[in-house]
Amino acid sequence: MGRGLTAIVHQGQDLTLLMEYTIHLNSSGLNFIDLMVRQGNIDNPPKTPLVPGFECSGIVEALGDSVQGYEIGDRVMAFVNYNAWAEVVCTPAEFVYKIPDDMTFSEAAAFPMNFVTAYMMLFEVANLREGMSVLVHSAGGGVGQAVAQLCSTVPNVTVFGTASTFKHEAIKDSVTHLFDRNADYVQEVKKISAEGVDVVLDCLCGDNTGKGLSLLKPLGTYILYGSSNMVTGETKSFFSFAKSWWQVEKVNPIKLYEENKVIAGFSLLNLLFKQGRAGLIRGVVDKLLGLYNQKKIKPMMDSLWALEEVKEAMQRIHDRGNIGKLILDVEKTPTPLMANDSTETSEAGEEEEDHEGDGENKERMPFIQ
Ligand SMILES: NC(=O)c1ccc[n+]([C@@H]2O[C@H](COP(=O)([O-])OP(=O)(O)OC[C@H]3O[C@@H](n4cnc5c(N)ncnc54)[C@H](OP(=O)(O)O)[C@@H]3O)[C@@H](O)[C@H]2O)c1
Repeated sequence: MGRGLTAIVHQGQDLTLLMEYTIHLNSSGLNFIDLMVRQGNIDNPPKTPLVPGFECSGIVEALGDSVQGYEIGDRVMAFVNYNAWAEVVCTPAEFVYKIPDDMTFSEAAAFPMNFVTAYMMLFEVANLREGMSVLVHSAGGGVGQAVAQLCSTVPNVTVFGTASTFKHEAIKDSVTHLFDRNADYVQEVKKISAEGVDVVLDCLCGDNTGKGLSLLKPLGTYILYGSSNMVTGETKSFFSFAKSWWQVEKVNPIKLYEENKVIAGFSLLNLLFKQGRAGLIRGVVDKLLGLYNQKKIKPMMDSLWALEEVKEAMQRIHDRGNIGKLILDVEKTPTPLMANDSTETSEAGEEEEDHEGDGENKERMPFIQ
């Protein structure tokens, strides 16, 4: 994937009139959803060719006639409905936010998707309060770390997390009780808290839905917000994908009523781009930037990649290697390939061995210092 992407975004449009903002990018976020888009594992995947990516940071290069509040040269971050992996993007003003002076462009590209998602689920959907407990899967990932940090802004919140074991050392200070991703987390949580937890955040839909619901205390909230386990390759095939969907259908509303449990779903992209809630999200971004300015939250970043290295960056997240967020840096020069580099991507539907701690063995990892 190269820098010619920008041309696709610009083709045949008077962008300053249509889109209101043109941003010269410094960085873009790489999210798990980008893998799902690539595999077509989303509802209504867009037609190809497409430029992936939903969030970015950079400098305002041009403004539409009616745009107010920002000026050319301002440092901004933005949500975009695709097209973020480019040198220039255009997006409506309602999705653009000013970056605090001491926030780097990399941090700004790592910020919106993970922290807004975590905030919305914890505070808008689950109403997290003092003394509550939260279970989060993929606790070492972008959303997982945002959840852990936001939980620490509320007194006495206990965070239970699952993650590949090799990540535990790096994230142990942010998560109260950590379990390996293959552990029987229902049993492990119940050993510590027999009653269960108040909030389950599940990005592994399928048979985890039943487990998550079984862990809820009365009046607890289960939120489904992802389906990472449907990404094929690794140990997953089309059949496990289908099985996961089948399992999801089996939630019984009468049991929810009898057991006083709440089940919810959350999709930030739908809220922003299909359901017209940009105003609500702007208020949330303001609150989050307040927490950032008070040094209560800070994106945890895994690694920085040139646009040309996107294939290897995607392979890293696919292989569970990331701890925190992967960033595509428009100004970064690609690291020269070494003779023993493997850049082969797992094929969709392929059955592979699931090696514990695969991520430890990855070479050419341009970690952020
Ligand atoms: N609903 C929303 O609005 C919304 C917004 C943002 C993200 N999300 C969802 O939140 C989840 C996390 O997203 P993220 O961008 O922050 O990613 P991430 O957690 O930084 O990275 C993915 C991690 O997921 C775990 N994982 C679980 N199943 C996997 C599989 N089949 N293949 C590879 N890794 C797998 C791995 O961690 P371990 O090996 O440590 O388990 C991996 O490192 C995703 O499901 C994403 O779609 C939802």
